Amino acid sequence: MQKNSLQSATTDIRLVELIAALSLATDLGMGQPMEYAQNVCILSVRLGEALGLNESELREVYYMALLRHIGCNAETYRMADLFGDELALRTDVASVDSARSSQMVGIVVRSIQQANEGKSALQLARMIAQGLMNGPNLMKEEYTGFCEVAQRLAGRLGFDEGMKLALGQVFERWDGRGSPGKLKGEAIARSMRIVTLAQDVITFHRMEGVDAAVAMTCERKGTLYDPHMVECFCQQASHLLMGLEDEHSWEVVLALEPGKRTRLSDEQFDTACLAIGDFADIKSPYALGHSVGVSELAAQAARHCGLPETDRVDLRRAGLLHDVGRVAISAGIWVKPGPLSEREWERVRMHPYYTERVLARPDMLARLGSLAALHHERLDGSGYYRRLPASMLSPAARILAAADVYHAMTEPRPHRPALEPAIAAEQLLREARAGRIDSEAANSVLAAAGHKVRTLRRELVAGLSQREIEVLRLIARGRTIKQIAHILTLSEKTVDNHIQHIYNKIGVSTRAGATLFAMEHDLLVDME
Ligand SMILES: [Fe+2]
Repeated sequence: MQKNSLQSATTDIRLVELIAALSLATDLGMGQPMEYAQNVCILSVRLGEALGLNESELREVYYMALLRHIGCNAETYRMADLFGDELALRTDVASVDSARSSQMVGIVVRSIQQANEGKSALQLARMIAQGLMNGPNLMKEEYTGFCEVAQRLAGRLGFDEGMKLALGQVFERWDGRGSPGKLKGEAIARSMRIVTLAQDVITFHRMEGVDAAVAMTCERKGTLYDPHMVECFCQQASHLLMGLEDEHSWEVVLALEPGKRTRLSDEQFDTACLAIGDFADIKSPYALGHSVGVSELAAQAARHCGLPETDRVDLRRAGLLHDVGRVAISAGIWVKPGPLSEREWERVRMHPYYTERVLARPDMLARLGSLAALHHERLDGSGYYRRLPASMLSPAARILAAADVYHAMTEPRPHRPALEPAIAAEQLLREARAGRIDSEAANSVLAAAGHKVRTLRRELVAGLSQREIEVLRLIARGRTIKQIAHILTLSEKTVDNHIQHIYNKIGVSTRAGATLFAMEHDLLVDME
């Protein structure tokens, strides 16, 4: 199902771990609870087994369930413009049969009303009329855009033509009344038919239990769903749904992968991060290219700063992934031209949190997620979402924040045009002077962006790198390797290597010797 056979996989991550993490983002983008797609995946594979599918067919079902909503960020700002909060709308629509126009109209009207609280009755009536008149065409365009984005992203993630073809059928129905409505019955990919049934079952099962799920499938049998699949599901519903509410779906999904367990090479992982960055940016038109821009600036700035290669690689990847949590916030907020309300700001402040949660597993993503989630933190503690103080922000986190600020200023926003590079540079330096952005990080980012700045590399004591000085400070403060690794978001092995290098450079062999050296050279700046 993946196009390229994998050779040496040096990156310690499985393909499914990356796709399952991405599925958490698409859950948020569809207004669903996290792990929704993972539960759909488990049920889809169980149903596929009950239907007698072979291993390669089950593998397509497995990945289809996780990837089905990968196009969810397409056209969302247009939806939000017409209907209000597209995430709330999607939550409501998830349990409705799309062919039942009266139910759909009711949901759309309610959504427009909620989004326009405080407007006059006349204004509201106009908006509802506009929504109902333009809604069908917009939905058709949204569905088409959703599928095209899904197909292109799936291709970039290495999935084959069969998967891409099926991802073009996300909104097709068994009775041919879906969108674009070109297919019906068995002409729709079997994997898609299974996943379409399974996702609605998961929704109804969560809301009302097994009986409600069975009743719903029977009601939609032969219209929305393949009748044979409905019969198979109904015969074994309790068995197929067993434990889905209780089990930890991450471990179950990973153990369930049919066929060969594919691991990603470094190159494949980087390509996937790039695709995820574009997935995040497409949520709003002015953010296109933001993630890759931040990634490149941050990685180059790390080099200017003399940070270790591991930091540079982490920054490049974290830059691509940093805004994936934007998917959880309505596009209407991202494109709002006027000032945000307090409630809207509260939502915006949560997006780095969602980035961290989406990337919480496995360990390799978690390390990047921890760094990525710091991109809006500020040295004076005024950032979000944690409001961390300077002492908790590593050099890499400071560079990421500076790169994000600078690059965002050179992009247009709903309330202002893109700033000229020289003006953006001046504003970044102003942030540094105000104590919010690290001045060395700011200068490094500006150098990376092609601005002339002061010499960046400092003469460091005993040839120690900045990272080594950080480690040395923490050693002197009595921190264990494990604690240092946690504070600096490094692996314990990397910390251990740093310690050996430090000891060699400063000519000591014990923590006590290193502590004395740090005191003699006035290096004991508080790191915590
Ligand atoms: Fe952000």
